[in-house]
Amino acid sequence: MIILDRQNGLFTLQTRNSTYQIKIGAHGVLLHSYYGPRVDGEDLSRLIRSADRGASVYPNDNGPDRTFSLDMLPQEYSSCGVSDFRLPSIEFEMPSGSRSADLRYTGFEVRRGKYAIQGLPAFWAADEAEADTLVLFMEDKTAQAAVELYYGVFEDCDLITRAVRVVNRGAETLRLCRCASLCLDFSHSDLDMITFNGRHLMERCPDRGPLRPGVQGVGSIRGTSSHQHNPFVVLCDPEANEDYGTAYGAVLVYSGSFEALAERNQFELSRLVMGINPYQFGWNLGPGEAFDAPEAALVCSPCGFGQMSRQFHKAIREHLIRDPYQGARRPILINNWEATTFNFNAEKLLSIAKEAAPLGLELFVMDDGWFGQRNDDNAGLGDWYVNTDKLPGGLEALVPQIQALGMKFGIWVEPEMVNEDSGLYREHPDWVLQVPGRAPCRGRGQLVLDFSRKDVRDHVYGQLRAMLSSADISYVKWDMNRSLSDVYSAALPRERQGEVFHRYVLGVYEMLEQMRSDFPGLFIEGCCGGGGRFDAGMLYYTPQIWCSDNTDAIDRLRIQYGTSFCYPPDAMGAHVSAVPNGSTGRTVPMETRGVVAMSGTFGYEMDLGETTQDEKNVIKEQVAQYKRCWELVQKGDYYRLTDPFRNPLFNAWEHVTPDRRCALVSVVTGTTYAAPAYMTLRLKGLDPALKYRVNGQDVYSGALLMSAGFPLPQPQDDYLAFQLLLEAE
Ligand code: DGJ
Repeated sequence: MIILDRQNGLFTLQTRNSTYQIKIGAHGVLLHSYYGPRVDGEDLSRLIRSADRGASVYPNDNGPDRTFSLDMLPQEYSSCGVSDFRLPSIEFEMPSGSRSADLRYTGFEVRRGKYAIQGLPAFWAADEAEADTLVLFMEDKTAQAAVELYYGVFEDCDLITRAVRVVNRGAETLRLCRCASLCLDFSHSDLDMITFNGRHLMERCPDRGPLRPGVQGVGSIRGTSSHQHNPFVVLCDPEANEDYGTAYGAVLVYSGSFEALAERNQFELSRLVMGINPYQFGWNLGPGEAFDAPEAALVCSPCGFGQMSRQFHKAIREHLIRDPYQGARRPILINNWEATTFNFNAEKLLSIAKEAAPLGLELFVMDDGWFGQRNDDNAGLGDWYVNTDKLPGGLEALVPQIQALGMKFGIWVEPEMVNEDSGLYREHPDWVLQVPGRAPCRGRGQLVLDFSRKDVRDHVYGQLRAMLSSADISYVKWDMNRSLSDVYSAALPRERQGEVFHRYVLGVYEMLEQMRSDFPGLFIEGCCGGGGRFDAGMLYYTPQIWCSDNTDAIDRLRIQYGTSFCYPPDAMGAHVSAVPNGSTGRTVPMETRGVVAMSGTFGYEMDLGETTQDEKNVIKEQVAQYKRCWELVQKGDYYRLTDPFRNPLFNAWEHVTPDRRCALVSVVTGTTYAAPAYMTLRLKGLDPALKYRVNGQDVYSGALLMSAGFPLPQPQDDYLAFQLLLEAE
């Protein structure tokens, strides 16, 4: 709901559990009154204080009044170089050469439904009742620029989206040097910041610390959202935990280089700014042209991280993901990568598929190595035609044979990349990102195609379209295996080189959208050397993303835990793979690997020809269990019951149906030791008044399971797992 108070110049955005308020301040400066747990019918601008302090500087139109310094006032979208010395949100390079921005309010508009952003991913509403839009218009008279701030209000999900459009109203080119998607000021600074960090094979590990004086934060300059830092951050009360305290989550709906910075200032005010990373960024706006910053989205939970995550999950499932399996179960897949890497032929693939089909696996995914001269990672990328030495008769022959086994067929691609040893590169060596006069850096033996160029994209997409049209293909795994370097486009003039990073991302989005519209039933899974581009931008096109190249079930507990703070389990690609695990050398029981994988999008990635009959029986049971429980995982509310970074004894999590009548609890124990501690697990999210039958046997009340808990059996070995299926009587 959007509430207008014209008399006091207030805009209040109300969701089920949160309130966001903006105030039109003196001289048209837009001030931020409040964001936090819901407060009804109040003028919250009383929180805004100002004084002549700290050697303040103040706008010229303030006259002799020295108390109105932007530096001390909570801003809605901070300007640059005009008396606010904290993090700027926007910066113009004007024809004069000045780099600054001074924004003043000029008007507003309220619209039913949710705004969209041309060419960029964004949360969407199916109809006008699901969301409302507020647009605040601002201008910088000197720069002759109009800035529009967009707010989408999804009441039910406690989600507030933000977007920014800049229009050049002048007669000369205006260069945008910085354009954040989100600025969020707080009138206090006793906040902790949580960021989600890591590396290839260990993504999105939470790191929490108090907000310290000055600027701190995370970002990426890799051209992808990155394995190293995720474009999702949390600010929270210092005492906040899973169930208690105010927690603010902010996610950027973007897949390229980003920055998320928080600042605590001299007067204990704080600010979060999030958006495209200004590193090597500069966008030229010709007269009348507009620039759209990517969307950011906020959830405020008054009762801890658990509810914050569940609201993000709901919003992502219902208002971001566009899933061809909407409402239906996604197929259980078998992928050949860890079994074969590049060394396979049709016979080998069919042998894996023949083992998989009777076990109940439903989608066969042929990974890297099927095209061009791709026998290792030094050749072939860019040549998206079948290697008929490996697959005689091509996809036209292979796919029907897979389908005859009762399985669907999926395929791996890496459209953004090229190997120098490829037909594409030999023909078009100038199509890669490279600095004139300097040989480009290689990553995994490959170069990056200049996806800011339409001719390059058209050529690659032409090949992909022909391939996808040649057989009945249900699924594509869209991979991307290196960071961007040498970011320079031969197709753009000198003054536009600052646009290449962002144009590249727009190019990726455009091709994904094209693929989705040309092949409407096609399911696309995102991937970036595992989870290097696991972000809300990609989820708009690819409803699931390969969570990590690390398939070790114990490491996955941590990766999937961290990922779950923002992203729902049904977005996390998770597979059972062979042991000892290729990344860690660890051996974990098949049952445990299954329990961990079925908490994401369930699949297998191993040579089933090498599994024993006992293991095959376990796989059959896992498939049956997943078919019983998939709705809980794909649609249920998710509860983290333990923190795998802290609890060495066991880890547990829970999926609960929204009506609280059914729940799936998964537990994985740690390493065993003598004279062990007793372990009790208290559940969450149940109805205390209901009676639940556990695994078809004993019946307990929800109150007992949540308050007293469930005694866990004593593990007799390392890394054991079990699941409790709770069904209300
Ligand atoms: C990286 C992916 O994350 C893997 O799953 C696999 O597809 C390889 N690339 C193939 O090159």
